[in-house]
Amino acid sequence: MTDGHGAGGSGAMWGGRFEGASDPLFRALNDSLPFDHRLVRHDLQGSIAWARALAGAGALAAVEAEQIISALGDIGAMAASNPRAVAEAGDEDVHSWVESRLIERVGALGKKLHTGRSRNDQVATDLRLYVREECLARVDEIRRTQDALVGAAERWPDAPFPGYTHLQPAQPTLFAHWCLAHFEALDRDADRFLSARARAGLCPLGSGALTGTTFPVDRESIARELGFDGPTRNSLDAVSDRDFVVDALHAAALCAVHLSRFAEDLIIYSTAEFSLVTLSDAVTSGSSLMPQKKNPDALELLRGKSGRITGALVALLTTLKGLPLAYNKDLQEDKEPLFDALRHLSLSLRAAPVVLDGLTLHTDACARAAAAGYSNATELADYLVRINVPFRDAHEVAGRIVRFAIERGQPLEAIDLADFRRFAPAIGPDIHEALTIQATLARRNVPGGTAPGRVQAAVTSARLRLATKREQEAAR
Ligand code: ARG
Repeated sequence: MTDGHGAGGSGAMWGGRFEGASDPLFRALNDSLPFDHRLVRHDLQGSIAWARALAGAGALAAVEAEQIISALGDIGAMAASNPRAVAEAGDEDVHSWVESRLIERVGALGKKLHTGRSRNDQVATDLRLYVREECLARVDEIRRTQDALVGAAERWPDAPFPGYTHLQPAQPTLFAHWCLAHFEALDRDADRFLSARARAGLCPLGSGALTGTTFPVDRESIARELGFDGPTRNSLDAVSDRDFVVDALHAAALCAVHLSRFAEDLIIYSTAEFSLVTLSDAVTSGSSLMPQKKNPDALELLRGKSGRITGALVALLTTLKGLPLAYNKDLQEDKEPLFDALRHLSLSLRAAPVVLDGLTLHTDACARAAAAGYSNATELADYLVRINVPFRDAHEVAGRIVRFAIERGQPLEAIDLADFRRFAPAIGPDIHEALTIQATLARRNVPGGTAPGRVQAAVTSARLRLATKREQEAAR
């Protein structure tokens, strides 16, 4: 007993049963303060609610609770002013750090706060509070990226753009339609973060170590005070469940994968070979050797980060697999992957709008690429269908005409009417008009299609939906 808290290392909360001190390597393995200091605000929030609950249960006098709560407020201010000092304080974890600071301030009274509580229900609560907050922050960042995508669509509302499948020219589309495709994927990501937040909606405090506290605390009001929907329903589950972390990591991983695909598109489009877009100097870098280089580093990192973020999801799932009920220290391994994944996703999400805002679209090159590669061949087949050729035959005939055009080194629209008629005599003089990029685009006039009128309406509706959602989210 060296420091008044028993053996086990500086300020350990559990020294009584121990005679010997902890091995330094055990401390290095076991201590979580170097990373869980990020939870200090949430730990204080939970502790304040717990002090109130203890007073309500008669386990603390009202004045005692008040003194504790006010000291916890001071500790919060101190932690906020110097977060680094918390990280480096050398305590076992954020919970013991808070308790030690409390005892420094209010003396023996501080030792009463942990009455009826365990670090198991405490950390499960802290982490839920953290995840709930971070999910909203990611939603906000997603909205900004969506805003930049709509912005890009509005800047080039009717620019034709090449559409690919298998990365081969497929059919013409509009650049704005491409922007909104990525907008939709991010919209689902925001939904996933909101539902991950909702699934972290019940409060574990009062579950104790695993079977529930013996003190008659009002769990409903603890939950309400902390912004939860209610208390958890099973104490064993409450301290063991990290599904909400998996949910948040899944939302993060899929969002990172979406950003990666978005990035890959622009990386390809910005190559000398495609030359459809130019990235701004603000998000690219040069080569130390090759003077001509302008590398798409920001986008490559958006693509690259998807690896570590997906890794975090897999790491936690692997940690959870096979864990017996209830709490096990393995669960401490939930934090670093979560913190890391959310931090790097946040960086990616904040960088994406910078890329988009600085983008230059080469509309002439885009129009040329959109018209190239026989990407109006479907249009030719559809034309034949309209003059009553069954689609299978139309496909075959159009394919033969494409081969003929390739042999001549001409695009479809340069073929003479007489030559067209050698393949299908019913083809009329309106064929050239039907094969123009304008006609090809205009015919995709279905909801969700790439006809300019549809895309225009989709941009307007995306703008509106985004504004409505941001309003709702700001009101939370
Ligand atoms: N640092 C621990 C964690 O993150 C806090 C809970 C410790 N509980 C325990 N029984 N040792 O999981």
